[in-house]
Amino acid sequence: MDLGIKNKTALVTGAGGGLGRAIAIALAREGVNVVLADINAAALDVAAKAVQATGPEALALEWDIGDLSLVDARVGAIEERFGAVDILINNTGGPPPTPASTKPYTNVDPKAYQGSWQGTYTNGKKFQLTISQVQGFRAEVKFQSGSTVQFQQVLIRSSSFRVGDTKFALTGTGKAQVGTAITDPATGNTTLLKGTATLS
Ligand SMILES: NC(=O)c1ccc[n+]([C@@H]2O[C@H](COP(=O)([O-])OP(=O)(O)OC[C@H]3O[C@@H](n4cnc5c(N)ncnc54)[C@H](O)[C@@H]3O)[C@@H](O)[C@H]2O)c1
Repeated sequence: MDLGIKNKTALVTGAGGGLGRAIAIALAREGVNVVLADINAAALDVAAKAVQATGPEALALEWDIGDLSLVDARVGAIEERFGAVDILINNTGGPPPTPASTKPYTNVDPKAYQGSWQGTYTNGKKFQLTISQVQGFRAEVKFQSGSTVQFQQVLIRSSSFRVGDTKFALTGTGKAQVGTAITDPATGNTTLLKGTATLS
């Protein structure tokens, strides 16, 4: 593939392994000069050799991205070699890997969920959930609130499921708590609108 980025300079953090190394190699294949940064010197060495074997130029920098005292020196080394960085792949600092939930899915009683649920949020706004086709722990849900209409197949676990940004949690016979995350498009701020619903 030609992405039109030949001879650009990319800085890839966490380039010693995983996604970072794969991205560094992919960029080198595009003819990009790649700066590899990683806290792990041994991994960095292996990745840098792979990049050097693929593309034009590679610079490997042992760098703990969390150590702010290193920034000036490392950026200086990059600028000396390649000038400005054109592409930044900011690939470190994500959450640590976590295993998938260990809570198993178990079959639910369709009668507890199936039907038309009428709800009201704490701000007075109404919503409706229609739950059908409950089989095992799967169901089909139609969610309506104002002009929003969503259809989704859901998986029920721990008496709850999600439809888009809305979470439904069964709290008793014919009763449920509902929370909808509302994002303000102007500010990007998200708030949680809570409500209750009853099975009619
Ligand atoms: N793999 C996934 O499915 C996945 C999904 C979502 C997000 N992410 C995020 O993508 C990033 C890369 O994930 P990955 O699976 O390739 O991880 P990985 O553990 O395979 O590789 C991470 C690399 O970052 C290096 N590193 C760790 N801390 C560093 C630091 N302080 N300074 C410099 N280098 C550091 C490690 O030595 C390693 O070489 C992470 O931020 C991760 O949270 C990964």
